[in-house]
Amino acid sequence: MAASSIYLLHSVLTRRRDQNLHFSSLKSLLFLMPTTLALATSLLILLYISSTSNFFFIHPHHLQLDGASTNHQKPSKILSFSPPKFVGFSEIPNFSARDGVIGETKDQNTFNFHMGSQGSKTYINNEELFHDRDGFHENYKQMNKSLKIYVYPHRQDDPFANVLLPVDFEPGGNYASESYFKKVLMSSHFVTMDPSAADLFFLPFSIARLRHDPRVGINGIQGFIRDYIFNISHEYPYWNSSGGADHFYVACHSIGRSAMEKAVEIKLNAIQVVCSSSYYVSSFVAHKDASLPQIWPRQDNTLNLAHERTKLAFFAGSMNSPVRGKLLQVWGNDSDISVHFGHLTTSYSEELLKSKFCLHVKGFEVNTARVGDALYYGCVPVIIANHYDLPFQDILNWKSFSVVVATLDIPLLKKILEGINGDEYSILQNNVLKVRKHFQWHLSPVDYDAFYLVMFELWLRRSHSRVKA
Ligand SMILES: *[C@@H]1O[C@H](CO)[C@@H](O)[C@H](O)[C@H]1NC(C)=O
Ligand SMILES: *[C@@H]1O[C@H](CO)[C@@H](O)[C@H](O)[C@H]1NC(C)=O
Ligand SMILES: *[C@@H]1O[C@H](CO)[C@@H](O)[C@H](O)[C@H]1NC(C)=O
Ligand SMILES: *[C@@H]1O[C@H](CO)[C@@H](O)[C@H](O)[C@H]1NC(C)=O
Ligand SMILES: *[C@@H]1O[C@H](CO)[C@@H](O)[C@H](O)[C@H]1NC(C)=O
Repeated sequence: MAASSIYLLHSVLTRRRDQNLHFSSLKSLLFLMPTTLALATSLLILLYISSTSNFFFIHPHHLQLDGASTNHQKPSKILSFSPPKFVGFSEIPNFSARDGVIGETKDQNTFNFHMGSQGSKTYINNEELFHDRDGFHENYKQMNKSLKIYVYPHRQDDPFANVLLPVDFEPGGNYASESYFKKVLMSSHFVTMDPSAADLFFLPFSIARLRHDPRVGINGIQGFIRDYIFNISHEYPYWNSSGGADHFYVACHSIGRSAMEKAVEIKLNAIQVVCSSSYYVSSFVAHKDASLPQIWPRQDNTLNLAHERTKLAFFAGSMNSPVRGKLLQVWGNDSDISVHFGHLTTSYSEELLKSKFCLHVKGFEVNTARVGDALYYGCVPVIIANHYDLPFQDILNWKSFSVVVATLDIPLLKKILEGINGDEYSILQNNVLKVRKHFQWHLSPVDYDAFYLVMFELWLRRSHSRVKA
């Protein structure tokens, strides 16, 4: 109930915000009347729920719904910044290093918003990869022509050039998405030198590089960000004129979510494009913020994706969450669902190539590295993690190329996966092959790749009105 309301609310908002969505004629408007009524009803129900529950913490600035804004709630679970419990790890495909660092250690079994246990049919009711293919393409063209980003300028000899300027090498590893985005943006046609022409302002600090900078480090990131905002809000008028609402930053490491603690305006107002997009952390605000895919960059053109897939499902990772504990408990000795914890003795890529389904199981973090891996190797991702924003979910119909299983349903996993028949599997896998290109980075961006889709998510969130400085 709540979930479908969220979805409907989201469609309403997308339409409301995006004045560029055209409806071709009055006829189609009339045709939409029943839908509109249904949406309005859902909205009312949503408002009712939001006033009686604390599942929702809707940010008033961005939603501007009078009813909802007065019921603005803080998330019930607030995570505090815990000092580092880990040693720095290098960015190599090392499973113990895949799963974020700081975070929740408790499962959230209370709110199953995706499918329950009705079986497979749910997944293929809508085979379309896009929620609205035509709307997407039309908007994409508009975005490509008109979206302008102002990047706060920093000189090569700035003492923090390493953090503020794009890296001068090809990004790699787990957190590559952050560096790729900045590098590609800076040489793209979206950048404008004229702040008055900008739709959005980019805060170019790199969380990953701050983390490794001995002058800052994990414990200094919050202070650095606070000082950075202090500096730009005194040197330039743009931050003050929107309270930060037309500003954004991009971060992939999970530490980013505690990085804004001393600059709460970023957290509350700015658009956070982050890999850690869980609803159960105080820093991520659904609809306002966007989920960044965590992608280990790979470019292997010789890959045979038509590999025979003999294994039902595969997972490899470290044992760092109750959800994974449950998986081990139930499927640890199964011959069809192959679950590996700790060091993998076989080849990871081979395993992904010969499995029909590849499991992404919430660890400390919800980050999507394994989803990116699965898609790259043509394996249908199975997402076992309750309630969080999947990358590009404003654009892509995740049900057409993945299977989402509530953590409560782990015991039903085999039944669910075996219940997906050959035809249904082909649909899912064909869509995996189609969606693959949206989860790839290129130094020189290619239309519809990960860079362009992040730009599209920003386009949906751009401000329509500007308070003059
Ligand atoms: C995994 O990372 C840890 C921490 O950096 C390191 O000590 C270990 O050698 C790595 N393991 C492998 C298999 O690379
Ligand atoms: C987007 O803009 C780039 C740069 O101007 C151009 O090369 C590309 O063809 C455009 N793509 C679409 C779909 O309009
Ligand atoms: C803020 O500005 C001061 C003075 O120019 C500078 O020393 C400091 O490094 C800046 N801090 C950040 C985080 O940008
Ligand atoms: C922005 O607001 C802060 C706090 O109110 C103020 O100190 C600062 O001078 C303002 N910046 C500009 C450029 O006016
Ligand atoms: C798997 O089998 C081994 C050996 O029979 C047993 O010791 C272990 O408890 C089993 N593990 C699970 C998760 O069932």
